[in-house]
Amino acid sequence: MDKLLIKGGNRLHGEITISGAKNAALPILCASLLAETPLNLSSVAALKDIDTTIKLLGMMGVKIDRNADKVSLDASEVASFEATYEMVKTMRASILVLGPLLARFGNARVSLPGGCAIGSRPVDLHIKGLQAMGAAIHIAHGYIQASTLHLPNRRLQGARYYMDMVTVTGTENLMMAASLAQGTTVLENAAKEPEVVDLANCLIKMGAKISGAGTDVITIEGVERLRGADHNIVCDRIEAGTYMVAAAMTGGEVKLLNVQAHLLDAVIEKLREAGAIVTVGTDSITVKAEGKLKAVNIRTAPHPAFPTDMQAQFMALNTVASGVAKVTETIFENRFMHVQEMQRLGADIGIDGNTALVKGVEFLDGATVMATDLRASASLVLAGLVARGETLIERIYHLDRGYEHLEAKLNALGANVQRVS
Ligand code: EPZ
Repeated sequence: MDKLLIKGGNRLHGEITISGAKNAALPILCASLLAETPLNLSSVAALKDIDTTIKLLGMMGVKIDRNADKVSLDASEVASFEATYEMVKTMRASILVLGPLLARFGNARVSLPGGCAIGSRPVDLHIKGLQAMGAAIHIAHGYIQASTLHLPNRRLQGARYYMDMVTVTGTENLMMAASLAQGTTVLENAAKEPEVVDLANCLIKMGAKISGAGTDVITIEGVERLRGADHNIVCDRIEAGTYMVAAAMTGGEVKLLNVQAHLLDAVIEKLREAGAIVTVGTDSITVKAEGKLKAVNIRTAPHPAFPTDMQAQFMALNTVASGVAKVTETIFENRFMHVQEMQRLGADIGIDGNTALVKGVEFLDGATVMATDLRASASLVLAGLVARGETLIERIYHLDRGYEHLEAKLNALGANVQRVS
């Protein structure tokens, strides 16, 4: 198992290029199942979760050609409509094949995702939405068996569906399913994340009729068929936010390229509140900080509010900022797994339900810590960058799921990070 060895204390300086968004690429790769001709993507990051999704689609019969960040997917001859437990347990986002399989082929057998480190993460809203469109869904032996064979023309029927929780992949699954349904679907209380908008933009290029993406009401007028298209994946705002925090915490100056600042309003506001200087260009963001940052209160909520995927990173910032901060997680019920690990580094954090109270300390001291989930592991890297001495992070396969060439990017900025087996 690989580990990351970090020698703390270096200020980060320089430029890095942000990769394509993992959480936009995953649904968009699955959208290839909807099209009868090839979907050609660019800015597809080299990440484990992307590899997993490509493997899953390949197992279904999608012909895939991948070269660097370019991926072409041809779903003209899909032979299998199944996502097995072995595939889904390694990546819960595999659930995103359910909507497209049902919409295009009228048949899908997808394993229920188990829970995960950050929470139970059910998919009941995905299922209820598809049932609202007429799908017959039977759950047995840990699998979702879905079919539209009983419906007129064997097609999903447009419906109005209110999601009683904001769900990102739920909105994405239902938007993809509705694209080929008979009639019009209205998704209410839809997720507004930029990755939902990027998927909608790609589907529209494929011939879908979608309006309202980015608002909480998305209207999809079903069409007979979808075709392939060319699409460049939107930048990864969470990767960008993670490096912005790294620049601020280490008291350096870093310019991020290939990032659109309007995707990160809440994060930029919090960094400025903490005392960092954030300068915005058309496709770049520069973060500069000197001296101690100020502790900032964080409360996560659906976009455009502060993103839950940046909570752990700001927790790291608060551990060495001056003052006391409250960090409240409202999306997932167990997204404080990084707290105990940070305490091993000397952080002063107390948890009360879904709120953590973080008292800034003068220094963190390096130690061996364990990554538990993707963003928690990123927060431990940030803490290691400022801790005195060496920090060894175990189980960094979590990091490889969501951060492309992490140690190369950090070392290019002057960090001292080594991958050790
Ligand atoms: C997406 O997960 C992201 N993953 C997550 O990023 C992100 O943290 C999350 O959205 C919230 O922004 C991808 O896009 C692949 P949700 P998702 O459905 O869609 C509950 C990362 O680090 N819920 O928006 O699975 C759920 O339990 C990952 O890249 C139901 O109850 O999250 C949670 O409490 C981590 N029933 C809340 O809603 C459902 O049917 C939000 O979940 C669906 C969700």
